[in-house]
Amino acid sequence: MSAEFVFINEVGPRDGLQNQKTILTPRDRLTLINQLIEANLPGIEVASFVNPKAVPAMDGAPEIMLGLQEINNCEISVLVPNLKGFELAREAGAKIISVVPSATETMNQKNINMSLGETISSSCNILKEAKISNLRTRAYVSVAWECPYEGKVDSKIVLDIASQMLSSGADEIILADTIGAANPSSVGLLFRNCVSEFGHEILSGHFHDTRAMALANVCAALAEGIRKFDSCIGGLGGCPFAPGAAGNLATEDLANMLDQMGYSTNIDLRKLSEIVLFCEEQLHAPLGGRMSAWLNKQSKAI
Ligand code: COA
Ligand code: ZN
Repeated sequence: MSAEFVFINEVGPRDGLQNQKTILTPRDRLTLINQLIEANLPGIEVASFVNPKAVPAMDGAPEIMLGLQEINNCEISVLVPNLKGFELAREAGAKIISVVPSATETMNQKNINMSLGETISSSCNILKEAKISNLRTRAYVSVAWECPYEGKVDSKIVLDIASQMLSSGADEIILADTIGAANPSSVGLLFRNCVSEFGHEILSGHFHDTRAMALANVCAALAEGIRKFDSCIGGLGGCPFAPGAAGNLATEDLANMLDQMGYSTNIDLRKLSEIVLFCEEQLHAPLGGRMSAWLNKQSKAI
């Protein structure tokens, strides 16, 4: 029997790099993205079309898109916070876009300068426009478990936002633990509710490892039938507008765990550890994933 496939969507070039001290040029970001494609990542969020004054590290998104026009063996997506970002992304040739409503009033204000109601209606409009343009669509529900400003989030709000996104044309809902505050029990519970409402095929998980529970949270989501996860090479990451949003779950740790559990990801683990070294050199900082150090030691021992 062939192993069950789990889709890993790499978000390092976006979520990972948006808040680093060292800002990479679009050219260096393209080098990173091309290496990730070579490592067989099936999906990569490559950029966000945001105001470069708000997030300088994401400047140059059109240049990134231009460099990826010929790619057809990887699902290339971009994040769009508002209609202007969506229009710029469409112009730049994006085929998959992600909207990013947060589940609380304050997080939307801090992140994209809109109220919760404005964010929902803006995201719904973008999704409808995207469908008219035959684009694929993803909708995050950010701070789905806990908000750095308002604390614990009521799951009813998350389900309500997800439902509005789906009826406006979202192909996928990503429940995001933006500040790494969820635990396996709360992850299991929210995914169980969402699976019974929407089915598991369109759901995905996005976990940060702030309190060292990201892999355990993936296991809790796997147990509810979820087979798609975001992660970041080297555990890079964090939202600049969410205090406490430390690194994302490291792609190499996730791919290794899934591999050992008997799932297939198609990803070249050795190549991933080379990419971690490349990122460390580029960013002048040691990176957070655990398993690349182990893997490097193993290859020296052989
Ligand atoms: N891309 C580029 N520029 C944009 C933009 C976008 N998506 N949306 C707005 N702008 C520009 C406007 O053209 C305007 O430029 P000007 O000052 O030269 O006239 C300026 O930003 C202000 O426009 P406004 O519509 O008032 O936007 P805002 O100040 O309310 O900012 C966001 C809205 C969303 C663009 C901004 O807050 C942002 O980029 N936030 C980043 C969110 C993010 O990346 N979070 C992390 C990932 S979830
Ligand atoms: Zn994130």
